[in-house]
Amino acid sequence: MHEAQIALDPEAVVAPVNRRLFGSFVEHLGRCVYNGIYEPGHPNANEDGFRMDVVELVRELGSTTVRYPGGNFVSGFRWEDSVGPREKRPVRRDLAWHSLETNQVGLDEFARWLKLTDSELMLAVNLGTRGIQEALDLLEYANHPSGTALSDQRIANGTPEPHNVRMWCLGNEMDGPWQTGYMTADDYGKLAARTAAAMKMADSTLELVACGSSGSGMPTFGDWERVVLEHTYEHVDYISCHAYYQERGGDLDSYLASSLNMQYFIDTVVATADHVGNKLRSSKKIALSFDEWNIWYLDEHQASDEVNTEWRYAPRQLEDVYSVADAVVLGGLLITLLKNSDRVTSASLAQLVNVIAPIMTEPGGPAWRQTTFFPFSVTSRLAAGVVLKPRIRVGQYETAVYGAADVVDSVATFDAEAGRAAVFLVNRSRTDSLTVRVDAGGLGVTRVDEALTLNDDDVYAKNTLDDQQRVGLKPNGTARVDDGTVEVVLPPVSWTALALS
Ligand code: AHR
Repeated sequence: MHEAQIALDPEAVVAPVNRRLFGSFVEHLGRCVYNGIYEPGHPNANEDGFRMDVVELVRELGSTTVRYPGGNFVSGFRWEDSVGPREKRPVRRDLAWHSLETNQVGLDEFARWLKLTDSELMLAVNLGTRGIQEALDLLEYANHPSGTALSDQRIANGTPEPHNVRMWCLGNEMDGPWQTGYMTADDYGKLAARTAAAMKMADSTLELVACGSSGSGMPTFGDWERVVLEHTYEHVDYISCHAYYQERGGDLDSYLASSLNMQYFIDTVVATADHVGNKLRSSKKIALSFDEWNIWYLDEHQASDEVNTEWRYAPRQLEDVYSVADAVVLGGLLITLLKNSDRVTSASLAQLVNVIAPIMTEPGGPAWRQTTFFPFSVTSRLAAGVVLKPRIRVGQYETAVYGAADVVDSVATFDAEAGRAAVFLVNRSRTDSLTVRVDAGGLGVTRVDEALTLNDDDVYAKNTLDDQQRVGLKPNGTARVDDGTVEVVLPPVSWTALALS
């Protein structure tokens, strides 16, 4: 099959495009913060020590909400270590990543960095080694305007305005045996419910995220969500999902279809959440916060000795270098998130800089874009208005892991007021180019404003320190519109975006 038909119906609306789907994640891990976004002494550093060349790339990436400060890190973190005079902040051991944490960047500095990047903060509290009181203290420090011990401490520390954090994660991956203080679903559900109830006593408008499963392969997957939500349903707004993908055993066909697993994950969590809601006779719907998703060559990291016995500052950890194929998979995962944006209303690409990241830096040196930067930045820039679910007619191919998978996947957005539409497409075929005809007559489009494709003859081509621009987006000269039908040719293993008006 060398052709695909896509029909776009302006009435087939999934949900308004939610900017929070383009969130990312900054964890105190490896070189994400230290020698990543923060490198005092670097020629591009500002007075706070933040690299402005990295800020520029983050802005270009179009990331919106940023989850912080972890991740596994948060489950041993004492937030009060990282505020106040820098010279008084203690150096601690971070057990999660076996590193030294100097606390030179904390909430107040990070909030200033977020302003530079125009991003919203999504803050996680430690429910691994800590509990309700510490979460309430952090909430008071962060959000209370003034006139209380902790809000006045924040003001004395140089931050007069409250941070006004809306989204809060109640711990991180508490189902994982690797998590400091990990728990059973029952124990976590009770703690999360009590913490959430107390936080909402302080501010009922907060948006709270309960920990879901750290992967759909977890033995407790499904049951974990059920039990946690039975405890927390009326107190929380979101349940989290985390998923990482990688090519295994040279099986590129299955890898290119990774978004089928993401779809299964979303369907299962939605069904479970709605089951609990119905059982509780609740009219409320729980949303999904897909607050860790990405490509991560985890098997390789686990086999390596990068988490070693020494306690090091800002070690090089989880520094995956991404290929064209990885970027195509990432573009496909973003298509799946958009397609499910009626229920997935927040998502965080994990992570942002150096650590499984779209942006890489070298200490004292340059910052550059990984291959995965491109589908994310273009989707974030072009997606506007409402998400439309396309009807796709295309052939399938066999995968060892997922069975039959469509060769093409796609989603569209439509901004009727601005008269603009965007179509995002992946071609999963390893061998064949595909001509796609998109019936966009109902949208009234007459022009292709942009057609960008990411592909390469070498699907494993990468951008590296020595060759930072080896892979990039190319204009797709085949795209044209004729009488409401858009035609474009998708090369094998490719991701494409069309901007139409
Ligand atoms: O993103 C890297 C790690 O992956 C996070 O710290 C953790 O939450 C997950 O296991």
